[in-house]
Amino acid sequence: MDSKPRGSPETAVLFVCLGNICRSPLAEGVFRHLVQSDGLKHRFHIDSAGTGAWHVGEAPDGRATVVAARHGVELHGQARQIQTADLHRFDFIIVMDRDNLDNVERLAEGSGSAAQIRLLREWDPQSNGDREVPDPYYGGPGGFENVYQMVRRSCQNLLADLKGNAASH
Ligand code: 4NP
Repeated sequence: MDSKPRGSPETAVLFVCLGNICRSPLAEGVFRHLVQSDGLKHRFHIDSAGTGAWHVGEAPDGRATVVAARHGVELHGQARQIQTADLHRFDFIIVMDRDNLDNVERLAEGSGSAAQIRLLREWDPQSNGDREVPDPYYGGPGGFENVYQMVRRSCQNLLADLKGNAASH
């Protein structure tokens, strides 16, 4: 991965799910798209990772790529597993569900990481209470559209929030 230079003025955001082929690549692609549309590319370092290693090296799931493309968002990248070093490279680690949250918090325990580890749907005004982005892997294409809409709403509000924190140069 390209790592954030030490002392960088960028705000570094890592999106995390289980496999890093469905939800977190969608969140990465949508957030990157919104950042670029706002002309803020230079202010953010954006990446994604999975807590599991099963799909390492794979491109995003074709169903995620199709739903993103339908909304004008391109997905890139190869799946990778989150590493302890990520806890020091990223300012925000944004997870999709509570299993991801438990796993990343366990990895962070005792690491001295100052990263904020948060559920993406904390930023979704239509969140249904559990604040999770459901895993669409074993479902149909409708699940991917549903996930896309949750991710899009959340990323819009996340960006509005982080713009205030991001460096102004
Ligand atoms: P993701 O979806 O965590 O959104 O990338 C999944 C992808 C693969 C598997 C589970 C979830 N899997 O069990 O292989």
